[in-house]
Amino acid sequence: MPSILVTRNVGPAAMAKLEASGFDLIVNPVDAEPTRAWVLENIANPDVISVCLMHGQGSDKVDEEFLNACNPNLKTVSTFSVGFDHIDVKGANARGIKIGHTPGVLSDSVADITTMLVLMTMRRVQEGIDLIKSGGPTAPLLTPCARSIPLANALQWPKLPWAPFVMCGPNIGHPNLTIGFLGFGRISEVVVDRLLAFTSKTAPPTILYNSSRARDNQAQLDADFSKRWGTTVRRAEVDEVAEKSDVVIVLCSLNPSTTDLVNAAFLKKMKKSAILVNAARGPIVNSEDLNAALDAGEIYGAGLDVITGEPHVAPDHPLVLNSRCVVIPHMGSADMDTRAAMGDLCVSNAIAGAKGEALVAEVKV
Ligand code: DGY
Repeated sequence: MPSILVTRNVGPAAMAKLEASGFDLIVNPVDAEPTRAWVLENIANPDVISVCLMHGQGSDKVDEEFLNACNPNLKTVSTFSVGFDHIDVKGANARGIKIGHTPGVLSDSVADITTMLVLMTMRRVQEGIDLIKSGGPTAPLLTPCARSIPLANALQWPKLPWAPFVMCGPNIGHPNLTIGFLGFGRISEVVVDRLLAFTSKTAPPTILYNSSRARDNQAQLDADFSKRWGTTVRRAEVDEVAEKSDVVIVLCSLNPSTTDLVNAAFLKKMKKSAILVNAARGPIVNSEDLNAALDAGEIYGAGLDVITGEPHVAPDHPLVLNSRCVVIPHMGSADMDTRAAMGDLCVSNAIAGAKGEALVAEVKV
């Protein structure tokens, strides 16, 4: 009997849809990451024609080992994510396996988290929380840095809980900001929508974006973007994004050309007053270089939804301990409605693939 392998419980509605599909289900018996051995053993089962998996936390990577282990009848792998850097798409396609993913349904949610990190980082929220929790100024606050606040005024809590410039950060509404994007897909566009609600109406920000996709109609595209948002929007080289932006937002996909894209050289080009937010994939930003840049005051602050090594990030990781860095555990799409919609799309892809039909959302590389 044809079977769909389900590596994680994808939520009640999506599991019900799988059950109603008529295919046999082989479901990971524990609601936790399956072992790699369990995945490899089950994909070898000739009945398994479709696999519904989570997004690459380790045991579910679709790499050479996976492709060598899977049975020749396997038609589809459907990932519960928009990103597919954990999947060898070309290798899978070469064996006739289609890859499904979950674009679109999480754009708003990831844009919300990205916007939140921009605001938290500019307004020094991590420092504020650390200050409250420690009961007084902490070592990072005492480190000389590029911040505009005179140190004498910045170190009053809790003895002098208020002073004119205590905990002041830069203002998202400041006139003529430049906001730069590395990667400019669906999520970035929603981030622009969100940020324009906060930025200056009289002197709106310039939006620079770097995108790997070279387009013949670039000038027209930029004119359309500029008209849509009522401000200057244009494609720029990576160096210009680094040099001119007050806010740099990383939302590109992870691949060999974007690994370590934000490294010491990039960070040195950034303004001392600028912030960096990464809501894409950890390895796009070099963690050691970022920590060194923060400590040296080369940039103002950073907000990370993703970090190299996740989910295994030690509580004493230098960036976790750095008050100038907000680190959260890859929560970009973590709201109930969005995860339910991702589950629905993930199982729809798996079922369509098992039936030999076109996937609802297939990864094309
Ligand atoms: C994805 O789905 O790829 C994003 O990282 C959100 O979890």
